[in-house]
Amino acid sequence: MRRTMRLRANDLNRFGEELGRDLAAPAVIGLSGELGSGKTTLVQAICRGLGARVLATSPTYALVHHYEAGATPVYHVDCYRLKAADEARDLGFEDMIRERAIVLVEWPERAGAWAPPLDRHFRLSYGDEADIRVLEEVR
Ligand SMILES: Nc1ncnc2c1ncn2[C@@H]1O[C@H](COP(=O)(O)OP(=O)(O)OP(=O)(O)O)[C@@H](O)[C@H]1O
Ligand SMILES: [Mg+2]
Repeated sequence: MRRTMRLRANDLNRFGEELGRDLAAPAVIGLSGELGSGKTTLVQAICRGLGARVLATSPTYALVHHYEAGATPVYHVDCYRLKAADEARDLGFEDMIRERAIVLVEWPERAGAWAPPLDRHFRLSYGDEADIRVLEEVR
């Protein structure tokens, strides 16, 4: 991808769906960016591209959403509400890596050292118009 992309929602969705279609497990993708910048929108588009179906969201610990794309486990983990990085120890990242899953992590920086190594890391920010978001890949 170009270093930064200026995207309306349709384009962001298309980007995510294409990314999901091309994604092979195991893979860990980080999504950073301010509140409402489109991280969850992008995760959902990636899941559509993967053809992932929802398996479960733990009711007590709704930070982890579990999907399955064919035989591949897919996890969407949102670290936003962690009060301290140490809480990420209990999210199960090690198990996800061990089962060679596709892991999509919002706010990976909040998990500190408990965050798994990211294969790709995207950052979203607000653009110059209300319906524009800027997407860049962090390297
Ligand atoms: N170009 C765009 N791309 C993505 N979302 C857009 C765009 N323009 C407007 N939006 C709106 O911005 C919001 C993005 O919300 P979303 O939940 O995806 O953000 P988020 O980064 O996950 O937020 P949070 O940090 O609260 O989890 C949605 O309401 C969406 O409709
Ligand atoms: Mg979100």
